[in-house]
Amino acid sequence: MRRAVCPGSFDPLTNGHLDIVARAAKVFDEVIVAVLVNESKRSLFSVDERVSMLSEAVSAYDNVEVTAFRGLLVDFCRDNQAVAVVKGLRSGGDFDYEVHMARMNERLSGIETVFIPASPALSFVASSLVKEVARFGGDVSGLVPSYVLKPLHSRLSEQP
Ligand code: PNS
Repeated sequence: MRRAVCPGSFDPLTNGHLDIVARAAKVFDEVIVAVLVNESKRSLFSVDERVSMLSEAVSAYDNVEVTAFRGLLVDFCRDNQAVAVVKGLRSGGDFDYEVHMARMNERLSGIETVFIPASPALSFVASSLVKEVARFGGDVSGLVPSYVLKPLHSRLSEQP
């Protein structure tokens, strides 16, 4: 049984994230989508809200589960008997950022990182851009699941 972990902030989840999770679920027997609890980072949605939105998104996959984690990713992977970390790559910029983490994680625990190239139609989609565009009234439908749109707009409208 080969289990992988797809970690991230998912603030909010995007269709780009879901594409990577769906493809990881075809390659591995089980996938854990792991939401980082990062108290030092101001997020739009709470960890519980993000876990709940992701859980709805992956409900169709019987080999995918969603949970929150704290601390080092390698410790979470070890505690959950995961054999790999899965990350999506949209660009060379992503690679430059991710490869350092992949090498650090491999050095810390021996775990391998498997990179999945983002689908071309979603390769520009990032949570940060989605938030910025939505904040100024731009159309982000099609970039996040439909049930994320309403909470996204309402949470952004509450912000100063
Ligand atoms: O969606 P993000 O914010 O790019 O995800 C980054 C994440 C959560 C994958 C990364 O920050 C992480 O793994 N954090 C856990 C702490 C850790 O293990 N840090 C060392 C990484 S080499």
